[in-house]
Amino acid sequence: MSPSPASTLSQWVGHGLVVGLGGIGQALVDALGKQAPGLEVHSAGPHRGDHRLDLCSDASLAAFVAEQGPRLQPLRLVVCTAGLLHGEDLQPEKRLAQVRRQALERSFAVNAFGPLLLAQALEPLLPRDQPVHFACLSARVGSIGDNRLGGWYAYRAAKAAQNQLLRTLALEWRRRLPLATVTLLHPGTTATGLSQPFRSGVPPERLFSPERAARQLLQVIEGQTPESSGAFLAWDGQPIPW
Ligand SMILES: NC(=O)c1ccc[n+]([C@@H]2O[C@H](COP(=O)([O-])OP(=O)(O)OC[C@H]3O[C@@H](n4cnc5c(N)ncnc54)[C@H](OP(=O)(O)O)[C@@H]3O)[C@@H](O)[C@H]2O)c1
Repeated sequence: MSPSPASTLSQWVGHGLVVGLGGIGQALVDALGKQAPGLEVHSAGPHRGDHRLDLCSDASLAAFVAEQGPRLQPLRLVVCTAGLLHGEDLQPEKRLAQVRRQALERSFAVNAFGPLLLAQALEPLLPRDQPVHFACLSARVGSIGDNRLGGWYAYRAAKAAQNQLLRTLALEWRRRLPLATVTLLHPGTTATGLSQPFRSGVPPERLFSPERAARQLLQVIEGQTPESSGAFLAWDGQPIPW
């Protein structure tokens, strides 16, 4: 099979869905509005966005698909930005003694299971006869091969699990949805609520604004094709070791 040429965002026609309206999610919605005039962009999240969607709830996923599904077709682009690093009763662990079962479960529910169960819920809406991108925000700290610092047990492991789950999905869709492209993306350290407590040591030139992160991520997504489905890439398009 000869490789399919990547098409530009400006050529995509249909619907786009951004899940998670945090710093990067909102910037993606704004950027898509400008760069992809042929896409009607929808947003969904547990607290913000056009529609309510909690990836940790099967009922919420089912209700979203039942209510919004007919309006989302053809779905050409899904970007899942849902992620959880810290919150009430949840802090990245510095050492083993700080590991808590409840925190591991919460982190896995959002960071690992969420994107896969989103894919499962949306699968019936995905076109068979047109290209579709399913991109999920992962994190470089989820790389096992690149783990040199340790710490952050729950978040690292949940992102590593997300990578494995979505890589497995990409292989299944190669057979069942050959025009689908699954991509795992590291946005780079970006100035959002998620990174806010942890970025004091990041030099300004390595801290992206959400707008810059969104622009870079869309450029990477745009360059992917079904043949490259299942890749784990950084904001500059460079592969990250698993
Ligand atoms: N910022 C960085 O430096 C950085 C670095 C590496 C990777 N990432 C990854 O990039 C992604 C976006 O992060 P961000 O920086 O934009 O963080 P953010 O501003 O905290 O946004 C995270 C989003 O995840 C959503 N979310 C949380 N739980 C959810 C659930 N159960 N169902 C659906 N959505 C849920 C939140 O929704 P609500 O707002 O409605 O609660 C929020 O919109 C995350 O996956 C993160 O792990 C970020």
